[in-house]
Amino acid sequence: MGITIKTAEEIEKMRVAGRLAAEVLEVIAAHVQPGVSTLELDRICHDHIVNVQKAIPAPLNYRGFPKSICTSVNQVVCHGIPGEKRLKKGDIINIDITVIKDGYHGDTSKMFSVGQPSVLAKRLMDVTQQALWVGIKQARPGYRLGDIGHTIQTFVEARHYSVVREYCGHGIGREFHEDPQVLHYGRPGTGIELLPGMCFTIEPMVNAGKQQVKLKPDGWTVVTKDRSLSAQYEHTILVTEEGSEVLTLRREEHARIAKSK
Ligand code: MF3
Ligand code: CO
Ligand code: CO
Repeated sequence: MGITIKTAEEIEKMRVAGRLAAEVLEVIAAHVQPGVSTLELDRICHDHIVNVQKAIPAPLNYRGFPKSICTSVNQVVCHGIPGEKRLKKGDIINIDITVIKDGYHGDTSKMFSVGQPSVLAKRLMDVTQQALWVGIKQARPGYRLGDIGHTIQTFVEARHYSVVREYCGHGIGREFHEDPQVLHYGRPGTGIELLPGMCFTIEPMVNAGKQQVKLKPDGWTVVTKDRSLSAQYEHTILVTEEGSEVLTLRREEHARIAKSK
């Protein structure tokens, strides 16, 4: 399937799905505490999505994924499967939420720290979140996908961290993963031109050490090869005439948006 330009009706549904995905991250925040298991976090999110939002957790049974959210702790880069393991002080965790509402997807993730993060972990999370936002600012009509990737890569590497190459952002809408692929590295002025009505995610994965990753035998969990910490933030965005709209914006980020305009 090629890249779709969303109609006004579809955009309204994408806004709803995006808001719901963001809301799950707001709801789960209070539960990310020492001693909680990632399975318990999965259950809380699942129940909220299904019973309160009347929506569908997209990861559940997606290509055989067994749970409703992804929980990626410390050296886990992405696609961590919720399980019995309990969080402890000093852990960092990415929680990735994708909901389907009225046939449309909203996909977003953020980092949480359990208790006080180390200085390195804090800096890694901050740099990764900033990398997402410098990428978002490159999402404007007439700009190209390569501009987003290049800006993120340059920002991250200037801070002596590395960008994961094997996983990328993606078009999103009726399908979880649509065209195009949104790489978090690249060359300026390359790739497709961005047009109003396009929806895609930007979701850089940044390692404190080297960029290489490996897949665990469970077929899902991706870890850093050198066991260094990894962080990720993700938003679903819509390209507009003026620039872009972040469909999965959380309340805590409103100030950031006002500032970036
Ligand atoms: N939410 C992830 C993304 O950002 C994909 C998770 S696929 C799953 O694209 F199967 F692991 F849920
Ligand atoms: Co995504
Ligand atoms: Co996601």
